[in-house]
Amino acid sequence: MEATGRIGVLGTGTMGAGIVQLAAQSGYEVVACDATVESLERAQVYVRQGLSRFADRGAFSEDEAAAHYDRIHWTTLVDDLKDSEAVIEAIVEKVAPKKEAFAALDALLAPDACIFTNTSSISITDLSSATGRPERVCGTHFFTPPPVREAVEIPRGLLTSEETVERAKALITSFGKLPIVVQKDVPGFVANRFLMPMIIEACRLLEEDVASKEDIDLLVKKGLGFPIGPFELGDFIGLDVALDVTTYVHDELDESYYNPPRILKEMVRAGRLGHKTGGGFYDYDVD
Ligand SMILES: NC(=O)c1ccc[n+]([C@@H]2O[C@H](COP(=O)([O-])OP(=O)(O)OC[C@H]3O[C@@H](n4cnc5c(N)ncnc54)[C@H](O)[C@@H]3O)[C@@H](O)[C@H]2O)c1
Repeated sequence: MEATGRIGVLGTGTMGAGIVQLAAQSGYEVVACDATVESLERAQVYVRQGLSRFADRGAFSEDEAAAHYDRIHWTTLVDDLKDSEAVIEAIVEKVAPKKEAFAALDALLAPDACIFTNTSSISITDLSSATGRPERVCGTHFFTPPPVREAVEIPRGLLTSEETVERAKALITSFGKLPIVVQKDVPGFVANRFLMPMIIEACRLLEEDVASKEDIDLLVKKGLGFPIGPFELGDFIGLDVALDVTTYVHDELDESYYNPPRILKEMVRAGRLGHKTGGGFYDYDVD
């Protein structure tokens, strides 16, 4: 996919905002759509700061950063996504709202447009069944933060065409990222079948008072050599997202191992979702 077309991003939260930035700085015209003005405003700040950081590091000039930002059209109207050659969906990790969004996009987009999804775990085949173009639906699973992480997981659905996989790979490559295709549509794909067990184990060790969350994070970083501890990572991802992913994988696999830890549920019920709410397992300064 040449960096001359128009890319839509539906949902401008933690992930969508980063994907909007990536698409804009890769030369695309971007339509950034979210259901709420508050989320769009947060994303505008995120993208401005992100582009500025890249300019500071010499990736492009301040003028180019401004030009990238100006290529983004911010909107709450899904209809504005109409002329996109592809839309990347990045809304809440729940099946029903995603399928509703997929049906709306299918009714709106040109027949040859692709619908990509940033889902962390949900069946691509199931989401594509809400459209009349299952062959043009595919996963593009970015990692957080999208402008920084190097790889993007490309889970294909049962009916995803080879051409769509190639278009997804070309788009991701044009973003300067490494596409890695997942050949089977399994719950959690590859990345979250590694990541979620780590978060689940950390929560269980904490619940059993085996060690403090600080010490668990410290051991994982300083002992195992991971760049970030499981509680820090959970806060970074969003504990609501982590809970949705473990719940989905648990239900789909009918595997009790993935039963979401009580402490994760409690944090979400208390509204402590991580960085985005100023506190999760740890507290954070909010701007
Ligand atoms: N957070 C992560 O680290 C991470 C990593 C990889 C993938 N993902 C996946 O990316 C997706 C988004 O996650 P997130 O962390 O950005 O969530 P988030 O809660 O930060 O953002 C979701 C955004 O979607 C908007 N939204 C919800 N329903 C909508 C609708 N019907 N139409 C338009 N906008 C709508 C919300 O207003 C919000 O701004 C999920 O599928 C998640 O599993 C998340």
